[in-house]
Amino acid sequence: MNIDYIEKVLVSTFGGRFSIIDKAKILLKFGRTTNADADIKTTIASFQGTEINETFATGNTVDSIVSDDIGDTGPITIEGHTVNLVTGATSFKRTRSIMRAKPFIKWAGGKRRVANHVLERLPKEIETYYEPFVGGGYIFFALAAEKRFENAVIGDTNLELINTYRVIRDDLNDLIRRLTGYQYSKEEYLATRAIDPENLCLQGRAARFIYLNKCCFNGLYRTNKKGQFNVPFGKFKSTPKICDEENLRAVSEVLQGVDIAHDDYKETSWIASSRDAIYFDPPYMPLSKTANFTSYTKDGFTRENQEELAAYFTQCARAQIPVVLSNSTEAKSFYTEHDITLIDGPRSIAGSSVDRKTVKEIIVTGDR
Ligand SMILES: C[S@@+](CC[C@H](N)C(=O)[O-])C[C@H]1O[C@@H](n2cnc3c(N)ncnc32)[C@H](O)[C@@H]1O
Repeated sequence: MNIDYIEKVLVSTFGGRFSIIDKAKILLKFGRTTNADADIKTTIASFQGTEINETFATGNTVDSIVSDDIGDTGPITIEGHTVNLVTGATSFKRTRSIMRAKPFIKWAGGKRRVANHVLERLPKEIETYYEPFVGGGYIFFALAAEKRFENAVIGDTNLELINTYRVIRDDLNDLIRRLTGYQYSKEEYLATRAIDPENLCLQGRAARFIYLNKCCFNGLYRTNKKGQFNVPFGKFKSTPKICDEENLRAVSEVLQGVDIAHDDYKETSWIASSRDAIYFDPPYMPLSKTANFTSYTKDGFTRENQEELAAYFTQCARAQIPVVLSNSTEAKSFYTEHDITLIDGPRSIAGSSVDRKTVKEIIVTGDR
């Protein structure tokens, strides 16, 4: 028995709502060792001092796990041993809130600093949440943590990014195995960067993408005209964490059941209705002629694209779909018929220090 097996059983039986600590405790109670053991022990050690009591039978068999805050009940079977899950007692404190999923990559235009402005403008309850320019997905993960949507559709035109989301959702263990094989070194970085992702399997491609993102200069994503990633190696004082397994597991859990589209924003969101919500976070209108560092894909996002997006936003708002959009102030004139708020939004990734200064952003809300 190993942690993967336990996870499979728990996910198929209870929809994956168990934390790694719960799983680890079951595993350790069985007294078996696995490859994952060291990680599990480290995780548990980091929570020493947290009151986690559990009801287990003595010996090698887990008889029951008592949960005091969730309505899970019933027996589950792990390798022939029946584990009974009981609700209502107070002796077991669930630990599922220990890890909240957060963006697994650094991405230009990340919304951490302006998140509250966006979050407070989106509905409290959303049937299907659409984020068609998902990037690192800061808002998506924040809404997921608040359980504000029933379903979600995320999309982006960056194929490497979208493939990575899908692999995290569908084949996480393979991805983690690959990521743990990478080292932070310039030599390995350049060799990995030189590989054509088309020649890799989907999992290898996702691992390469995360590795390059963690080790490149400033977390930039930039390609040349041929679409080849060309960001230089990043020199960091402390070694970057290439495989953040705990967060990747939390991300994977959030992504279960989520539609992940490699498509243009309109294709991803045209089906939305008034019970849903769309958040648009397109590439910014450039600050200056030289500030085109965030091309994300080889095609870029032109002024014409910005105008088209504004027309689409208006169309959605008129159809009573809750819509929120963020952009740089340069795009303000396209949204004059809507409610616009100006906020300070530091641009956290930029090619030059001039562009890295604090700039005003706009948050546009559709009138409903
Ligand atoms: C400003 S970033 C989004 C940042 C994101 N909100 C975050 O928290 O990291 C814009 C994203 O739009 C994507 N993109 C560019 N053109 C697009 C298009 N036509 N349709 C959908 N996505 C597009 C880029 O690849 C990029 O990931």
